[in-house]
Amino acid sequence: MDWRVQQTKKETAPTPKPVVETKQRRPIRQCNMIMMDRVSKRYEDDGLLALDNVSLSIAPREFAIVIGASGAGKSTLLKMLTREEKPTKGKIVVGGIDYDKLDDRDIPLLRRRIGVIFQDFRLLPNRTVFENVALSLEIAGYSNKEIRDNVPRMLEVVGLRSKADKFPSHLSGGEKQRVAIARAMVRQPKILFADEPTGNLDSRNTWEIVKLLLKINSFGTTVVLITHSNEIVRRLNTRTIKLDHGKIVADVEHGGEGFQA
Ligand SMILES: Nc1ncnc2c1ncn2[C@@H]1O[C@H](COP(=O)(O)OP(=O)(O)OP(=O)(O)O)[C@@H](O)[C@H]1O
Ligand SMILES: [Mg+2]
Repeated sequence: MDWRVQQTKKETAPTPKPVVETKQRRPIRQCNMIMMDRVSKRYEDDGLLALDNVSLSIAPREFAIVIGASGAGKSTLLKMLTREEKPTKGKIVVGGIDYDKLDDRDIPLLRRRIGVIFQDFRLLPNRTVFENVALSLEIAGYSNKEIRDNVPRMLEVVGLRSKADKFPSHLSGGEKQRVAIARAMVRQPKILFADEPTGNLDSRNTWEIVKLLLKINSFGTTVVLITHSNEIVRRLNTRTIKLDHGKIVADVEHGGEGFQA
């Protein structure tokens, strides 16, 4: 089955300017889907560094896990990449968009390129499953026909076609997260960021969600998954980046057996 929705919408925002090669410790390569170069973040002037000189690159189609103790800076790293927060210093390029050159009118273009899901689902309680997913397209200016075509197709991918008319309060935690994934993916972003998406789920639902993330990744989407779960790290045996006190202390190709999250 082809999960992708019909691409009938043309992006109107300007094409991002090419990334300039600079004399830096790590060269900035255009082929990276995600690039952070010596990024630091201090939330308060006299506060600690939540991120401390972090350099990182993630290739298109990669599935990367970010781990680390509570307060290590995982969500901060994600907020840098989604532009929810700006870094105190350092350079960030995501999906070809250089954040130094990003102005407010480019934010819709960025939002179309990235999808984000969270531990607490963040669904609108007074909207149905269909409406929660449709809202993502409405905001982006898709027509009613495009919404009628694309939302059911995306609900099919996450296995919730039959729940389209239900409200979030009538869904299990796993189902709510699948709605959130459908909402994040319906605009076909190139990257999906997930901040502890299984943190509120039991083991069975955790693996349903992880399998869905793997499926989305297999269709070509770059996935960055933040988790506290050693079991996910071990079983996925994929690229794993460990943060500690705002620094990257490990970055391995296979976080499988023997790698302690
Ligand atoms: N908005 C904020 N203002 C001030 N300090 C913040 C803010 N957000 C995070 N911090 C601080 O930055 C550090 C990193 O926080 P962050 O939320 O990134 O950790 P985390 O690794 O995601 O932890 P958890 O596993 O508990 O979610 C912590 O010391 C935290 O207190
Ligand atoms: Mg966090």
